[in-house]
Formats: sequence, structure tokens, C-alpha cells
Amino acid sequence: MPEYVELNYKGKQYKLPVIIGTEGEKAIDISNLRQDTGFITLDVGYGNTGSCRSTITFMDGENGILRYRGIPVEQLAEHATFKETAYLLIHGRLPTWKEHRQFSVLLNDHSLVHEDMRSFYQHYPRGSHPMGILSAMLNALKSFYPELEVLEEEMDITVTRLLAKVRTMAAMSYKISRGHRVVYPRPDLAYCENFLNMMFDSPVRPYKIHPDVVKALRVFWILHADHEQNCSTSAIRIVGSGRVNLYAAISAGIAALWGPLHGGANQAVVEMLADIQTDGSSIQRVIERAKDRKDPYRLMGFGHRVYKTYDPRAKIMKKTCDTLLSKLAIQDPLLEIAKDLEEAALKDDYFIEYNLYPNVDFYSGIVLRAIGIPTNMFPVMFAIGRLPGWIAQWLESMNDPHWKLCRPRQIYTGPEKTDYVPFEQR
Ligand code: CMC
Repeated sequence: MPEYVELNYKGKQYKLPVIIGTEGEKAIDISNLRQDTGFITLDVGYGNTGSCRSTITFMDGENGILRYRGIPVEQLAEHATFKETAYLLIHGRLPTWKEHRQFSVLLNDHSLVHEDMRSFYQHYPRGSHPMGILSAMLNALKSFYPELEVLEEEMDITVTRLLAKVRTMAAMSYKISRGHRVVYPRPDLAYCENFLNMMFDSPVRPYKIHPDVVKALRVFWILHADHEQNCSTSAIRIVGSGRVNLYAAISAGIAALWGPLHGGANQAVVEMLADIQTDGSSIQRVIERAKDRKDPYRLMGFGHRVYKTYDPRAKIMKKTCDTLLSKLAIQDPLLEIAKDLEEAALKDDYFIEYNLYPNVDFYSGIVLRAIGIPTNMFPVMFAIGRLPGWIAQWLESMNDPHWKLCRPRQIYTGPEKTDYVPFEQR
């Protein structure tokens, strides 16, 4: 039995359909609102706006729940490989053993990138941010592989190639930025191991792959693999709705992710912790600054648009951080500062009132530091992890029977009609 919400305006009644999701989330379908009533809705920042129906990821911000295709992220972080998680997100189900093997072979087969791409990396000004480079190079993939997504049935190969190449591109960019020789992907190595080897192996110091480092990276990437309609995913859906190619849409997502309020927060957290260490500020002083409405300073790695409780990813990340540092016998002073900050913030009335808890980025930077990833590459690590989710969301939007060009409206608040005034009369 369909349900409706009634809207009463100036004595007239309008019926708006109610949509209920699998987990009981409620929405009012306003798609005919303007046509029927002349009204649009105003929701700055889209905090109350559902932009699509999706079968990929479920989040419950009040109860700290995150599931990919129905599977709790805690179970995936504990048992799954990143490849399996990517397959799950993209194909909608876990792969069989045979499919997993085929996926691995395909990922290895397509992990090399066109040699000519090296010259682009080589000519980027030293000091360029790796996210700017990654976004530009992702867009450039369409020029290097123009044939990749011509045929609908080749889409599987296209997305697998993209997953395989992004990791090579990130490592290549890092090596070239340091003036080091590029390390090529090795077919005998699995996804995480291959990336670590391309990043850190060198002729003078062969890289020894440490299983605890691999485990931490695997968990890091799984936790970042999707997060429903966040800023970068929405950017991809919006850009993709104009029917641009997959690479251009993902490139837009990387640009969106770069910001410090989104995927750039992992870099911002470590920079904040390092500043606290350098200038010797007390924890209480930092908390007071973050609470001061006249000061733009925020506690990075705290708060979330959807989670109003502890981010389930942050719980796992904190544990991963503790385990990795202890296995590698690393004593990172930033971890102590982070823990002191967390303890003080969670007891503070302001943070309690606003439901501000650590998010995934609060401890992830310390994990990445322990792995040896340079700070400005942290958002790139987030992007590699998020890629399967972005691809799944893009594919879903392309196949959505309700598909439309994304084109929000606005409430105009500028000047009324004004006549043009020539220069000499101004
Ligand atoms: N430190 C201090 N105050 C905060 C913080 C914070 N980290 N986060 C929110 N607030 C305050 C904010 O000042 C505002 O106060 P008031 O209403 O008095 O002006 C109130 O809480 C609501 O803030 P908002 O920005 O309107 O809330 P939002 O839901 O849009 O914010 C957020 C979400 C992530 C942008 C914000 O919490 C933030 O800036 N956090 C720090 C950056 C960060 O860690 N980002 C990573 C998010 S997780 C990775 C991802 O999935 O993208």
C-alpha cells in the first residue's frame, strides 16, 4: 500500500509519495514538487537530500553502522582481501574462488601504464601535490586508452584496468617526484604487496614486505572502499550524469576528495598533530581553540556529516594503528598526542553537545606514517581505497532507470533587473 505525505499550502493539498529503504530509511519523493506546486526545496549542503536510490552501501550515522552490499565493514576488515571487497562493491556479491583468481590475473595483466605517461610525471613542477597530479593523470588515461570503454561488454575489463593502473600511477608519481628509478609492478605479488614494493623497493635498498604492514594497508583500503553519497562520490555521480567518460568522472572525484574537510583530512590531522608537537601547545589549549567560534581552527579528524556517534571505521583504524606500531616497535609521539586529544575531546561538553567523535582520518595518518607513506600522499592512499566504491557508484548511476542529468535549482537572491550602464556613465 503506497504511503503519502500531505503538503497543505493556501488551502490546497498535495500528496507526496513516501519511499522506504531496505533498512527503513524514509524519504519523501519531491520529484514532481515544482511541476505540481511551483516550489523547489532548499537544502544547502544536501544534508537532507537523497540524490539516488542505491544498493551499494548502507550507513546508519546514529548507530555507527557501515555495510557494503549488506556485509558489515568489521567483517570485511577482519576476513576479506581488498580485491574481494572491490569485487563485492563493483559486482554486487563476493567472488567465487575462481572469479577471485581471474580478477587477480586481470589486475596483474593490466597493471602496467603507458611508458609515455612517465614524461608527464617528469615534467610536473617538483613540489606539486600528488592529488593534483593523480586527478590530472586519471583524466589523461582517456587519451592513452581511448578504446577502453567503447563497448559496453568491455566495461568489466575497463574497470579492472583502472583499479590495476591507479596503484602503479600513484607509486610511479612518488618515485619520479623523488628523482628515483620507477619500480614496475610484479605479477607474483598481490595487490597491497605490489603497491608497497613499487613505492619502496630500490636497487640500493631492496624492500622487505612485512606482513603486518600489508595487513594494515589492506584494512586501510577496505575501510575507505565506499561511503555512499559523500562529497567525492556525489561529484562523480554529478559529473558522470553529463555522460562524460569514466576517467573524467573519477578525476573529478579525486579533485573533490583532496579537500581537508573530506579525504585531505588524513593529511590535515597529521599536520595538526605535528604542529601541536612542535609548538608545544597544551591539549586543553587545542580544545579551546577548536571550540572558539571566532577561530576557524577545527579539530581535524573529528566530526562527520552522517556519523553522530563513533565512526565504525575509526574504531578499527585505532586498533590497527595500535597493533601496527607495536608490531613494528615504533613509538610515534603523534599517537600519544592523538590519544590525549581524543580523551579530552570526548569529555568536553562542546564535543558531546555536537556529537563530535573521531572519524576514520583521526588515526589513519599515523598508520600511513608507520608504513612510510609521505604525508602529502595520504589523500592519494584514500583515493586508491575509494576507487572501487566510485566505480560501483558510477556504474550504478549509468544503469539507473531513473537516470537524469544532475541539475539542482537555486533561490536567486541577487539584484533585480538592472540596466547596463556604459563605462563613461559609471
Ligand atoms: N572541530 C570543532 N568544531 C567542529 C568540528 C570539528 N572537527 N566539526 C564540526 N564542528 C562544529 C562546527 O564548528 C559547527 O559549529 P556551529 O554550529 O557552532 O557553527 C557544528 O559543529 C556543525 O558543523 P558543520 O560543519 O556544519 O557540520 P557538518 O556535519 O557539515 O561537518 C565535517 C562535517 C566533517 C565537515 C566537520 O565535522 C569537520 O570540519 N571536521 C573536520 C574535518 C574532518 O575531519 N573531515 C573528515 C571527515 S571523515 C572523511 C570523509 O568521509 O570525508
